[in-house]
Amino acid sequence: MAKEFSSWVADQQSRFEDVLRNQLPSAEVAPQRLHAAMRYSVLDGGKRVRPLLAFAAGELAGADVARVNYAAAAVELIHAYSLVHDDMPCMDDDVLRRGKPTCHVEYDEATALLVGDALQSLAFQFLSEQRLSDEPSKQLQMVKLLAVASGSRGMAGGQAIDLASVGKQLTLPELEQMHIHKTGALIRAAILLGAHCGNGLSDAQLDKLDRFGKLIGLAFQVVDDVLDCEADTATLGKTAGKDADNDKPTYVSLLGLQEAKAMAHRLHSEALESLSEFGESARRLRELADFIVLRKF
Ligand code: IPE
Ligand code: IPE
Ligand code: MG
Ligand code: MG
Ligand code: MG
Repeated sequence: MAKEFSSWVADQQSRFEDVLRNQLPSAEVAPQRLHAAMRYSVLDGGKRVRPLLAFAAGELAGADVARVNYAAAAVELIHAYSLVHDDMPCMDDDVLRRGKPTCHVEYDEATALLVGDALQSLAFQFLSEQRLSDEPSKQLQMVKLLAVASGSRGMAGGQAIDLASVGKQLTLPELEQMHIHKTGALIRAAILLGAHCGNGLSDAQLDKLDRFGKLIGLAFQVVDDVLDCEADTATLGKTAGKDADNDKPTYVSLLGLQEAKAMAHRLHSEALESLSEFGESARRLRELADFIVLRKF
């Protein structure tokens, strides 16, 4: 990572951590245990890739960062909820997340279920209680965008395909559909929501940005599959080798490690092509695309 980019990332991460810390309900307010578990699951961990993409897209669209904060937080809360549920015994049954015991291990299963419910609701509160766009109708579209990206036609639907695919060999198009939904949908939403906080982009430009999001979102999950197989538990902060243990179809199980990596690089190049007209203003998005494909955790 170039030093200038890594310091931008560190600045955004630390600023955004304060936003989350301040906006999440205090663990001293009732119901204390639920609030503590929500804070445990969201704070002090994670790469914050989706918020970083929202901030980069917001910059591109000339958005006020105070607005993008809420959009980024909304997506990150949905993501955090998806991780809490993904780790539960009824799904991937994992004990480690972001270097800490998973929510249901540290608390209990019922609490983990409620953490997911409450984070999801709070995400929509964040998107709706402040003015995030000059036009109310556009803000309503933003709420719908996140709802679709999170629901049965987005992340939750992708998770359903994932669970139904255990022990099966999927075709490449089927695997692509699963990944585009379970992971791609929220990444795509993060980029569009960041951009919608500003007024600087035409519909044609928003379409280009959406294509970038679709491709880099898919690449993100391909790399996640590669890392599950190649990296170690300490580096990942989650149990390595879990996909093979759980008999999940992945890009690695279907194509092998080398081809899966080649696929991630192809998607990365295509994603960058869709940003070609933006010039210097899309630099952060390009750097984040590089990070997504080259990351080691
Ligand atoms: C992990 O996402 C789950 C997937 C959707 C692949 P991240 O790799 O973004 O996890 P954190 O937020 O950094 O912990
Ligand atoms: C998770 O995919 C995607 C979502 C949580 C929506 P994985 O099951 O591969 O994520 P990790 O590897 O546990 O982070
Ligand atoms: Mg999973
Ligand atoms: Mg998992
Ligand atoms: Mg994984």
